[in-house]
This record gives sequence, structure tokens and C-alpha cells, in this order.
Amino acid sequence: MPIHLRAEPGDYAPAVLCPGDPNRSTHIAETFFDPGFRLVNSERGMLGYTGTFEGRPISVQTTGMGCPSSGIVFEELVQLGARRLVRVGTCGGLGDGMAMGDTVIAQSASCDDSTPLRYAQMTSYAPSATFDLVATAASLARADGARVHVGPIVTSGLFYDPDPTTFGSWKRTGHIGVEMEAAMMYTVAAVHGLEALAMMTVSDVLGSDGSTVRISDEELRRGVDAMMRLACRVAVS
Ligand code: HPA
Repeated sequence: MPIHLRAEPGDYAPAVLCPGDPNRSTHIAETFFDPGFRLVNSERGMLGYTGTFEGRPISVQTTGMGCPSSGIVFEELVQLGARRLVRVGTCGGLGDGMAMGDTVIAQSASCDDSTPLRYAQMTSYAPSATFDLVATAASLARADGARVHVGPIVTSGLFYDPDPTTFGSWKRTGHIGVEMEAAMMYTVAAVHGLEALAMMTVSDVLGSDGSTVRISDEELRRGVDAMMRLACRVAVS
């Protein structure tokens, strides 16, 4: 039994959704899983549930915020037998023409945090999603008529960045979003041979001048619910 996920091999399904927020884990299980799901972890409030989605096995496990916290959870999910990790959450939107509530599919996640590089044991590395999962998510999203953007994102160690020029430099190199966990998940998955994909809802639109416009709670809930249903379908695909 790992230290932070107080579960045994077999308690998690091979496919695990990975939100940062424990409330979101509970919401996903209650809203999208078939009746009969069970709590598999509550250590440190990092709630995890296992059940089925449209009859197929699935788990959801909270990661907490940032690479150090999520890295512990990803590693222990590997120890417990996970084979496919699908991060679901929110991101800041950096792409031109992006709107609140849009879906971002992260083809790659640049490291603006040293934790994934330290784990990779490389000074430079390109954490990347599993291509088939990117393709499946993009085609399911487009078939649903969702506003979806596929491209590189940044995984940052800072939410409150004191430097107003940072967003501009990320945009300059074509990044379409910023969040705080995907690069860690892609790196742990690569090292252990797992599949991985990060899908996010745009919760704030970020300007080159460092400005931030934030989504309303209601808009956010609608966008996140649509993205999470899609993530369940990708996870069991
Ligand atoms: N920065 C980092 N992570 C985020 C952001 C952001 O602006 N928005 C949502 N997650």
C-alpha cells in the first residue's frame, strides 16, 4: 500500500481521470459514473473513486495542485496498476481567439517548473501526450460541436506570477494554455510506459500584457461538465 493513496492493486481501474480538485473528483463520480462506484482513497483529502462509465471500468483520483503534489499521486497510481492517465481540469487560455469554456487538448506540455525535468533526469525534455488519445479526444470533441483547441501548453510552477511579460513569451512560442500538472503526468507516464492525455477547460483568458479575464462560476461549471463527459469517453475508449 503506497503512502498517500491508501489502496491496494486492483482498487483502481486501468484508466484513471486525474483532476486537481477533490470536489471535482466527487462531482465526476456522482455525475458521470454508473451507480455503485466506491471511495478508494481519502488520505489527505485526495479523494479517489472507482466504478464504471457506460459499463466500462474507470477511476478518478485527485492530484492536488502543481507538479510536486501531482507527481506523488501519478507515481503511486503507477504502483497501483494504472495504465492510462487522463488529466481533467482548467487552464489559462493563451491562444488567439480563445473563449472561456473552450476545451484545450494538450499535445505537449513545456516545463516552466523544474520538477518534471528533475524526474526525467534531463536538462531539457519535451513531455508529450499519447498521440492516439489526442486524436480520439479531438475527433470526439469536434463531433460534439465543442470549441476545441489542440496544441502545446505550458505547465507552470507559479499561479501568481509577478512578471507581466511571461504570458507574452509563452504565446510567442505558440503555447495555447497554461496549467500546473500536465508536464509531470506526461513525464511519469513516459518513464513508466503509460498512456497519458491532459484536457482542460479555459477558465481565464490571458493577455500578452499580463492581463487576466476570469470566467463566471456558472460558465465554468457548464464548460467543465462538457469536457469531463468527453474525458470519460476518451478514458474508456
Ligand atoms: N495559471 C496556471 N494554472 C491555471 C491558470 C493560470 O492562469 N488558470 C487555470 N489554471
